[in-house]
Amino acid sequence: MSKIILTGDRPTGRLHLGHYVGSLKRRVELQNSGEYDKIFIMIADAQALTDNADNPEKVRQNIIEVALDYLSVGLDPTKSTLFIQSMVPELTELTFYYSNLVTLARLERNPTIKAEIQLRGFGSSIPAGFLTYPISQTADITAFKATTVPAGEDQMPMLEQCQEIVNRFNNIYGETLVEPKIMLPSNQTCLRLPGTDGKAKMSKSLGNCIYLSDDEKEVKTKVMSMYTDPDHIRVEDPGKVEGNAVFTYLDAFSRPEHFEKYLPEYENLDALKDHYKRGGLGDVKVKKFLIKILEETLAPIREERHKWEQNIEGVYEILKKGSEVAEAVAAQTLNEVKAAMKINYFDDDALIREHSEKYKNAQK
Ligand code: TRP
Repeated sequence: MSKIILTGDRPTGRLHLGHYVGSLKRRVELQNSGEYDKIFIMIADAQALTDNADNPEKVRQNIIEVALDYLSVGLDPTKSTLFIQSMVPELTELTFYYSNLVTLARLERNPTIKAEIQLRGFGSSIPAGFLTYPISQTADITAFKATTVPAGEDQMPMLEQCQEIVNRFNNIYGETLVEPKIMLPSNQTCLRLPGTDGKAKMSKSLGNCIYLSDDEKEVKTKVMSMYTDPDHIRVEDPGKVEGNAVFTYLDAFSRPEHFEKYLPEYENLDALKDHYKRGGLGDVKVKKFLIKILEETLAPIREERHKWEQNIEGVYEILKKGSEVAEAVAAQTLNEVKAAMKINYFDDDALIREHSEKYKNAQK
């Protein structure tokens, strides 16, 4: 069986360092591993509209931002199909048919949906499209016969719901859809990065993100004002590294060669942490080190982004071509789905013959 990846992001903002360590970096590695037959990366604008129906401009503006971020981290349109969800209308049609296989109660029990309803303060005014987006996500995945969905822990309930729909479909209509597996971030390659304010994660609404498109000055300012240990007031004070965002970032980004290059007086991160814990090491020194390290990751991404920014027409062309490729694949699956569900009336000669015989015989 072919190995096929599908994954994506909602275009509600530019992508940040949290996305990079949590998913983008891994995607590029998977892309370049050569182990997958096909890779589809989707900008989920239709899903973004399920809770932004009153703000289509936000979604519209961010499609190009997300596409630029994708290209600048190394997603390569010659290896991965980059496309826009709404430009593949077959996905909507699949969603409609799958929705007969899921109960409202089951959707309301989905932990991700529950948490998001809380977060958005929908109360009892939940848009129907929002409640049912796990069904649409099942369409996204199955349309491409994806075997592998690289995604975060928060997407587990989505994948479980998808597997249920796939199994129910195949049971009723015969083996048609492929059951996907989630590929969770592995700890060495993907990390959950806290916000610059030390809160659990980077989030646009909290304003605690370092964006992949931030310039060097913005990165400096953000790192210099990062949350550390509030009790580490004077340089001599002993400091805590647990819950100290600067050290969490160093855990994610620093490598032995960075110490050789920028801080040769420390052998490695443990030595730096020990000094911080003992006291006598100031935040500014550690932050300056972090800035240099982050720049090693961010500078090439930024440079690549600037190149693509000079060719916006080309980026839209990539999305258009990708959407055409994606649509052709989804159309094939939709045909199979409709045939399995017996809604292929005009393509089924046997059906027409059967009905014709029935009435001919009736008249005899
Ligand atoms: N739900 C994902 C997010 O919040 C985006 C998404 C839409 C997705 N369809 C998908 C992810 C299918 C994986 C597979 O960003």
